[in-house]
Amino acid sequence: MKLHWSHAVMYVRDLETMIDFYNKVLGFEVSDRGPLGPDSPIEVVFLSQAGSDHHQLAFAPVRGEGASTTLDHIAFRVDSLAEVKGVADRVAADGRSQRSNGVNHGNAWSVYFADPEDNTIEVFCDSPYAVQQPQMQGLDLTISEDEARRRTEEQFRDALGFQPMADFYAQHRRRFGEE
Ligand SMILES: [Fe+2]
Repeated sequence: MKLHWSHAVMYVRDLETMIDFYNKVLGFEVSDRGPLGPDSPIEVVFLSQAGSDHHQLAFAPVRGEGASTTLDHIAFRVDSLAEVKGVADRVAADGRSQRSNGVNHGNAWSVYFADPEDNTIEVFCDSPYAVQQPQMQGLDLTISEDEARRRTEEQFRDALGFQPMADFYAQHRRRFGEE
């Protein structure tokens, strides 16, 4: 199994200034933005400059003045739900992580866990579907890939942007001039 670097999520103070800098100076484009949950006042903004990733960065405007970190989490992609489960199993067997939970983002099946110093790490695989982000539902990591696909379709088919993942990537690559 290989962990492929995917993205980092950072806490920011001024969303629009940060977006402007990352857009004008570094070439990132906003790939999605929306409230963290149905009633959340917190808007999350996703940015990418590559067709390979829905987001390479995301910003959440919740940065505190005295916070010791601006990092919410870092994330790695693996190739299958079986590999996500494999990571979750190793984390559990190791025993040092104080938390670990499965999350279904609609477009990704993830496990989030803490390293020994409480940094949050996400390991995910793409789901077969794309859907506008952010989305967060629980994911039972004991279910089969077929069952995860069925539940994902059921939970997200009415959400904005629901489409086959291959179609999303084709559009995303075109957006960044990669095909
Ligand atoms: Fe993430």
